[in-house]
Amino acid sequence: MDKLRITGGRPLEGEVRVSGAKNAALPIMCASLLTAQPLKLGNVPRLMDVSTMAKLLGQMGVEVSRSEGKMTLTARTIQDPTASYDLVKTMRASVLVLGPLLARCGRAKVSLPGGCAIGQRPVDQHVKGLQAMGATIAIEHGYMHASAERLRGARIVMDLVSVTGTENLMMAAALAEGTTLIENAAREPEVADLARALSAMGAKIQGAGSDVIRIEGVASLGGAGHEVMPDRIETGTYLAAVAAAGGKVRLAGAEPRSLDATLEKLREAGAKIALNNSTIEIEMQERPQAVSVRTAPYPGFATDMQAQFMALAAIARGTAMITETIFENRFMHALELQRLGADISIEGNTAVVRGVERLQGARVMATDLRASAGLVIAALVAEGETVVDRIYHLDRGYEALEKKLSRLGARVERIR
Ligand code: EPZ
Repeated sequence: MDKLRITGGRPLEGEVRVSGAKNAALPIMCASLLTAQPLKLGNVPRLMDVSTMAKLLGQMGVEVSRSEGKMTLTARTIQDPTASYDLVKTMRASVLVLGPLLARCGRAKVSLPGGCAIGQRPVDQHVKGLQAMGATIAIEHGYMHASAERLRGARIVMDLVSVTGTENLMMAAALAEGTTLIENAAREPEVADLARALSAMGAKIQGAGSDVIRIEGVASLGGAGHEVMPDRIETGTYLAAVAAAGGKVRLAGAEPRSLDATLEKLREAGAKIALNNSTIEIEMQERPQAVSVRTAPYPGFATDMQAQFMALAAIARGTAMITETIFENRFMHALELQRLGADISIEGNTAVVRGVERLQGARVMATDLRASAGLVIAALVAEGETVVDRIYHLDRGYEALEKKLSRLGARVERIR
């Protein structure tokens, strides 16, 4: 298992380019199932999860070709509409094939994702919405056996905001008979990016990015080209790293308007931030002020930025309250940060973080994708050497992390 060895205490200086958004690329790759023609994507990040999704789609009969950041997916015919447990258990986002398979070939066999480190993460909202569109879904031996003659449009009110739930239903509705309304829909920018790709394929979608999405089903969809949006969580992660370690960094190929809540909190911490349409420049010359955050669905503060901000709070001046409202178990990084000397106490879904002058390097272990990002940030400011174990979690969602950090002057190396 690979590890990262990080020697902390240096500011970050220079420029890096942001990669395409993992959480936009994954649903958009699944949209290729909706047509027999090629879907040509640009700015696709080179990540473990993207490779896993390509493998899953390949097993169904989709032709996937990649070169650099470009990817073409052609689902000429779908031989086997099955997503097996061994793949789904490694990546929850596999559930995103369910809606497209039902819409395209009227049947699907998709393993239940099972829990994961950050919570049990059920898919009841996906199932409920698809049933409202006429699908029958039986759950047997850990699999969802779904079938539908032809999906028909429905009015669906989501019980809670679900990003992939909204995406699954939007893809299913694109080919359903009639009009579908999704209310209490997720407003994340990745949902809007998926809608842009679907519209380029011929779908009729209004309101994506708001909490009411209207989809008018069409008889068929065609191929299209689409540039995946920049990854707002990768962007926020680098910004939080500079706010913690100090320095001056330019992020190119970013989309500033998709991370307002994060930028606001970084300014509150004392960072100077300059924006223009696709670059973000951040400068931090003194110890950050403690800022409290409460995660919420977009446009609120992203749960995927919570661990990174806990690391920032660990060395900030003052006390921060970090409240996690989306997942029921997303504080594992707190225990690892304490090994580096952080002063954190957990009270229910709130972590009280009392900033300390300095952290000491130690051996720590990543538990999930964003927790490991938080540990890397803490290691960049800790005195001495930190070794982060199980960094396959990082490889799922951060393209060439150690290369990008090294380019910014950090002392990071991967130990095979
Ligand atoms: C997406 O996960 C992201 N993944 C997650 O990013 C992100 O943390 C999450 O949205 C919240 O923003 C992708 O987009 C691939 P949800 P998703 O459905 O869609 C509960 C990362 O680090 N829920 O919005 O699975 C659920 O348990 C990953 O890139 C139900 O109860 O999240 C959770 O508590 C981690 N029933 C809450 O809703 C359902 O049917 C939000 O889940 C669906 C969800």
